[in-house]
Amino acid sequence: MHRFDKSSLPHHLAVIMDGNGRWAKQQMLKRIVGHQKGVETVRLIVEECSKLEIAYLTLFAFSAENWLRPKTEVKALMALLKKFVRSELGRMMSNNIRFNVIGNRTELPADINAEISAAIAKTETNTGMLLTLALSYGGRQEIAGAARKIACDVAAGNIKPEEIDEKTFNNYLYTAAMPEPDFLIRTSGEMRISNFLLWQLAYTELYFSDVNWPDFDKKELYKAFHHYQSRERRFGKTSDQLQTGMPTA
Ligand code: IPE
Ligand code: IPE
Ligand code: MG
Repeated sequence: MHRFDKSSLPHHLAVIMDGNGRWAKQQMLKRIVGHQKGVETVRLIVEECSKLEIAYLTLFAFSAENWLRPKTEVKALMALLKKFVRSELGRMMSNNIRFNVIGNRTELPADINAEISAAIAKTETNTGMLLTLALSYGGRQEIAGAARKIACDVAAGNIKPEEIDEKTFNNYLYTAAMPEPDFLIRTSGEMRISNFLLWQLAYTELYFSDVNWPDFDKKELYKAFHHYQSRERRFGKTSDQLQTGMPTA
């Protein structure tokens, strides 16, 4: 098992859970079986992150572009999602987890939205990890939506154009109440962002694992954290400045 320091884990961990389909294909199974197995990994990783007291865990579960997949797969994914939210509620309560969803919820089927709203309301006063599922989520859509809302507020006279800066812009995003991710894990060997948290990932440490999501486990998570802890997050400064506390400018 890879060793890591429990006191310097990412405050906010984001994950692009990829490779369910390829995992299934490799074993001559239907893609949906890969998604089912992927749900078990979600359970395991949520449990482990909550135990490790990670404050924010954000999982990319369904992208705005995933609606373009074959209808049968989309339908099966929605059914799995509904089952997941319902079956996890008890575990979220016993683990003190707060549930949250980002993305264009108006595109989700009404019954799933009802399950989501119920889970958000039920877990609202929990004080442990904030578990966020990104559903029907696209980073560009989120940024365009924020620009639209800002334009409306300017037109209504609520804010002045000169007041728009990074901080105000951030307040119009789904993630307004969250810190930016410190660490992003993408599984399955793909090295791209696929329209996930484009604004928020500006200074996030990226990590790509070759393991498909259904095979991602505690050992792989620990390995990722071990890597995270070897990174130097400079945020534009020099290494010397960080190590000696040299002043800026
Ligand atoms: C990730 O696995 C799950 C979703 C995107 C919903 P994929 O379904 O993308 O699996 P691959 O990439 O085809 O292997
Ligand atoms: C990204 O995976 C979205 C999720 C993991 C939910 P995709 O499998 O949809 O991404 P691409 O199409 O390979 O970039
Ligand atoms: Mg994929």
